[in-house]
Amino acid sequence: MTVMASTARQSGATQPDDAGRLGFGTRFTDHMVTIRWTSAGGWQDPELIDYQHLALDPAAVGLHYGQIVFEGLKAYRQQDGGVALFRPEHNARRINRSSQRLVIPELPERAFLAALHALVAADHAQVPSARGQSLYLRPFIIAVEPTLGVRPAQEYLFVLIASPVGSFFSGGLSPVSVWVSDTFVRAAPGGTGAVKYPGNYAAGFLAQREAAEQGCEQVVWLDAVERRWIEEMGAMNLFFVADGEDGGPTRLLTPRLTGTLLPGVVRDSLLTLAADDGYDVREERLPIEFWQSGWEDGSLREVFASGTAAVVTPVEAMRRGEREWKAPTGTGNPVTLALRERLLDIQYGVTEDVHGWRSPVVLPGV
Ligand code: COI
Repeated sequence: MTVMASTARQSGATQPDDAGRLGFGTRFTDHMVTIRWTSAGGWQDPELIDYQHLALDPAAVGLHYGQIVFEGLKAYRQQDGGVALFRPEHNARRINRSSQRLVIPELPERAFLAALHALVAADHAQVPSARGQSLYLRPFIIAVEPTLGVRPAQEYLFVLIASPVGSFFSGGLSPVSVWVSDTFVRAAPGGTGAVKYPGNYAAGFLAQREAAEQGCEQVVWLDAVERRWIEEMGAMNLFFVADGEDGGPTRLLTPRLTGTLLPGVVRDSLLTLAADDGYDVREERLPIEFWQSGWEDGSLREVFASGTAAVVTPVEAMRRGEREWKAPTGTGNPVTLALRERLLDIQYGVTEDVHGWRSPVVLPGV
C-alpha cells in the first residue's frame, strides 16, 4: 500500500466519544483509499491518502451513464478494545458480482480486503465505541474515462471512504410504517435488482416520496411482473415471524432471492442465527396477501426489515391504496429484538464468533 500525502479537505471527523449524535453518513474519517484501473495496466497498487475531493473529468462515463457500483459494510469496536470488520469477504464477492453486471473489471478480493484493513487501521481512533455505533465503510467503483461514447469505459477508479455512524433511521429502533407501492417497481427480471447499483437507489426516491405523501416512512416493493410478490422495503430485506405449522417451531420467513432482490449480508446472517436458534427458517416467494391475512388473523406476529446500515427495523403498519393493516399490539417484537441482539453481540465481539464472521483489524502500535 502506497501512503501518499496530499492536500486534505477538512473531514470534520467525529471523535469516538461523540456519542448519540452521529446520525448516518454525514461526516467522514481523515483518510481514504483509491485504486486505479487502466486497460494497459489493470488494477494498480492501492493508495492511502488524505480524505479529499475527487478530480474527475466532467465527461467521465460514470457521471453520464451510471457505470458505478458500490458496497456498504461496517467495522465495529470490540469489547476488548480492538476493531473488527463484519463478513468483508461477502462484500468483496458481491462488488464483483455487481461489477460483472455493469461491465466493470473485477477487483481481486485480496485488494478489496487490503483496502478495508488499511483504512480502518489508519483511522481506527475514529471507530466509535457505543453499542449501536460503528464505522460505516463505503467502497465504490466509478468509470472515469472521459468519453460520451455509450460503451463500457477504459478507465476506472475504486474509492473507499469511511463514516462514523449511529442510527440509520432518525427514530432509532422505533417501528416504521410502510406504503406498498402499486405505482413504482424497484427491479424487473433481467435488470439490476440483485446488485448494488446506484441507479436502483435513485430510482427509488420518487416511490419513497410517494410513501411519505401517504404518511408512511418507507416504501415496500412488489415484484414487477405480477405486482403480487413481496420483495424489499426501501433499501432493506424483509422478514416475517409467523406461528409454527401444526404446533411446530415459530417460522422466520423472508422472500426468496429470485434475481430481483439484493442478497443482503445481514439477511444471510439472520437466517443462519435463526436456524441456530431452532426457528423454522424459510426463504419463499411470499404474496402480499400473506402479510395482509397474517395481520388480520394474528398468525403473523412480527415483521422487520434488515440491512447493514440499520441492522434491524420493526414494521408496525402497512398501507396499500385505501386500506391499512396493523401489527398485533403489545407484542414488543421479541423475536426481532432477540435476533438483533444476537447479531450485535457477534459484531461487537461480545459472544463467540462460531461462524467466523469477524475479521479483526491489526491496529498500529497495539
Ligand atoms: C443497507 O443497509 O444494506 C443499505 O443498502 C443501505 C445503504 C444504501 C445506506
